[in-house]
Amino acid sequence: MSEPKSSNIVWHEGHVTREDRQKVLRQRSVTIWFTGLSGSGKSTVAVALEKALLERGHATYVLDGDNVRHGLNANLGFSPEDRTENIRRIGEVAKLFTDAGVIVLTAFISPYRADRDAVRALMAEGDFCEVLVDADVATCEARDPKGLYQKARAGEIPEFTGISAPYEAPEKPEVTLDTAAQSVDESVAQLLGYLEEKGYLSR
Ligand code: ADX
Repeated sequence: MSEPKSSNIVWHEGHVTREDRQKVLRQRSVTIWFTGLSGSGKSTVAVALEKALLERGHATYVLDGDNVRHGLNANLGFSPEDRTENIRRIGEVAKLFTDAGVIVLTAFISPYRADRDAVRALMAEGDFCEVLVDADVATCEARDPKGLYQKARAGEIPEFTGISAPYEAPEKPEVTLDTAAQSVDESVAQLLGYLEEKGYLSR
């Protein structure tokens, strides 16, 4: 973890703990970290899972790459350094949301293993659940929902993940979704099954 730039700062404890907040929300909080290529289905599955969780009475929040890059991370591009900073910030935000008692779903390509591992290290054991949204480049390129692969192939987008920039898949993700083969509903069911089995959804 990098040292803060400012000196003379002292952590201030509140009177309300994460456990207190979780009790009010009647849930166990966790960060569900989706990683995968652009067009693999991260955001689609994340928002569908969010809806399913909400219908079961859970407090959730989705942090999405394209959305967060309009605001908090509007000053970041797609160089390796900027992607690292993108993920570092989102890791910190996800940690805060998790402390707030919320079930957080993050949908970022997060192409570098070291960056994702740094977020995992930031969080307590069991608070970080890595989900590989596993669709290969050919599948994502065939879908091309935003027309970005076409632009990348035409050389109009430099450093495009999967085409001209690397993607390092996790070696031991908690969950792997085969979104090339399965439907969104099947992916949501798989995730709900995992979260239930591991006790995340018990009240
Ligand atoms: S990350 O690599 O830093 O994790 P992030 O998930 O925030 O990426 O943003 C990825 C989204 O930005 C893609 O879904 C796509 O819509 C858009 N994008 C624009 N340029 C690029 C690029 N060079 N590589 C990947 N995605 C890009």
